[in-house]
Amino acid sequence: MIKIILLILPISLLATAPSLYDQGKNLYLTKGCSGCHGISAGGTNQYPALAYRRKPFLMSKLQSYRAKQGSTQQSQLMIPFAMGLSDKEIDALTTFFSEYHENKSNYKPDLAARGDGGS
Ligand code: HEC
Repeated sequence: MIKIILLILPISLLATAPSLYDQGKNLYLTKGCSGCHGISAGGTNQYPALAYRRKPFLMSKLQSYRAKQGSTQQSQLMIPFAMGLSDKEIDALTTFFSEYHENKSNYKPDLAARGDGGS
């Protein structure tokens, strides 16, 4: 009986816990990241796009910012937002960026900003 419970428990936990991707998405929207990098992580004028980029690169970037290291003057803007991130949060956020697959309705705010008309 115990064996069966031990088998079922991890499966039911997996079914209810949000995926790493969804955790990253929630962090992205609640930690203020979208204010600069855009609601769809597609970047805005001075801020780099994050969606569809490679995970190892983005991870190393966030780890450097967290350690207060940046290569440009612009990095100073980014450092305060990376300082509070845990390893787990960096993992989730970069999973969200590298595996980005939001549906088109999420792109509307950025498309409007680019004058695309949302078509
Ligand atoms: C105040 C505006 C601002 C906010 C808010 C912000 N960033 Fe940034 N971010 C920047 C700027 C500016 C850069 C480019 C810095 C540089 O040149 O090193 C950057 C760079 C990055 C990079 C590296 C991209 C690259 O191409 O080098 C990552 C990854 C990143 N930000 C993730 C995040 C995450 C995750 C959050 C939320 C926790 C966040 N940012 C919030 C402004 C911001």
